[in-house]
Amino acid sequence: MSRKITEKVTWVGKIDWELEEFHGHELTTRRGSSYNSYLVQDEKTALIDTVWKPFDDEFVASLKNTIDLSSIDYIIMNHNEIDHSGALPALMREIPGTPIYCTKKGEEIIRGHYHADWNFVTVKTGDRLSLGKTELVFIEAPMLHWPDTMFTYLTGENILFSNDGFGQHYASEALYNDKVDQAELYDEAMKYYANILSPFSPMVTKKIKDILALDLPLSLICPSHGIIWKENPLQIVEAYQKWAAAYQENQVTIIYDTMWNATRRMAEAIAEGIKEAAPDTTVKLFNTSTDDKTEITTEIFKSKAILAGSPTVNNGYLYNMAGILELVKGLKFKKKKAAAFGSYGWSGEGTKLLTEKLKDCGFEPLDDGLRCAWMPDQEKLEACRQYGREFAAKL
Ligand code: FEO
Repeated sequence: MSRKITEKVTWVGKIDWELEEFHGHELTTRRGSSYNSYLVQDEKTALIDTVWKPFDDEFVASLKNTIDLSSIDYIIMNHNEIDHSGALPALMREIPGTPIYCTKKGEEIIRGHYHADWNFVTVKTGDRLSLGKTELVFIEAPMLHWPDTMFTYLTGENILFSNDGFGQHYASEALYNDKVDQAELYDEAMKYYANILSPFSPMVTKKIKDILALDLPLSLICPSHGIIWKENPLQIVEAYQKWAAAYQENQVTIIYDTMWNATRRMAEAIAEGIKEAAPDTTVKLFNTSTDDKTEITTEIFKSKAILAGSPTVNNGYLYNMAGILELVKGLKFKKKKAAAFGSYGWSGEGTKLLTEKLKDCGFEPLDDGLRCAWMPDQEKLEACRQYGREFAAKL
């Protein structure tokens, strides 16, 4: 399938309606995704990025319906993770000598993945490739989110091909940002930022500053996942500036795991206390064993503080809590307060270990946490409410 975007640019990607997980099992993708590839046809023709390997034959067949493959003069690889470079081997079997433009790191990664000696042309920031009336301008964007990443800007049509940057795992036939549900779009764009780009926030801030300083006219931002930013494309750039700056809303997220519901009851009572003391604060609860991990990490990204609760089990805390906190640690969220809580029967060190782990995740624990022996009775539940009130007061 192909879709004309402008006089010279055609979308030739793949919408993946069925995708439920990404990066192995690391992320959930509840609204599918797409792998966007773009064909730029001027006096010369360039193909920007390909699609994920399971769709390589479909991609090549569909491309053949749009263009005689031998008329592709250049392949531009903005980023070479498998979801964008996976169809390269199938494409290169058809047009083996076509030059592949990428960064030096990009060449290293393509060689590392596919062990092929293709015709690589490495580029740096500011290098230009003339297509006739228009030019492609390359802008390196290392660690947004891999070391090989670059953006490509098309002069004349004023399009920024930003690869993963500004993308969303969001399958849609609508193609453009103004044609989709805005709440869904921003939910997915934020989820993408929180779970993929957040560890590199300082680089995001700097790269956006550098690009804005170039004062390039901008008609479209074409990412490699999800919809294209056509209506006020700078809105997503402004959102990224906000998200990269230790983003937080007036929200407290409580995550917990539970064996016999004692820690769940503590979580709920703490939530009541917070809500009582700070009625304007959004308080959300998630069970780390049963709720969606990507939703949880995104809600933590939005929060000014988190509470993590687990019963003490075998001198530690429950393994799904450990998994979520390990994910969160890698995302390097900044300036968030925290505390731990949990029920116990005898040894009771789970709360202390959770407090240490929260510190390890970069959060600032506000105290030593709250413990409750066995099942909380009314008195203990009131102590949890009071703990919630005091926690809210410290924020
Ligand atoms: Fe969409 Fe980093 O690959």
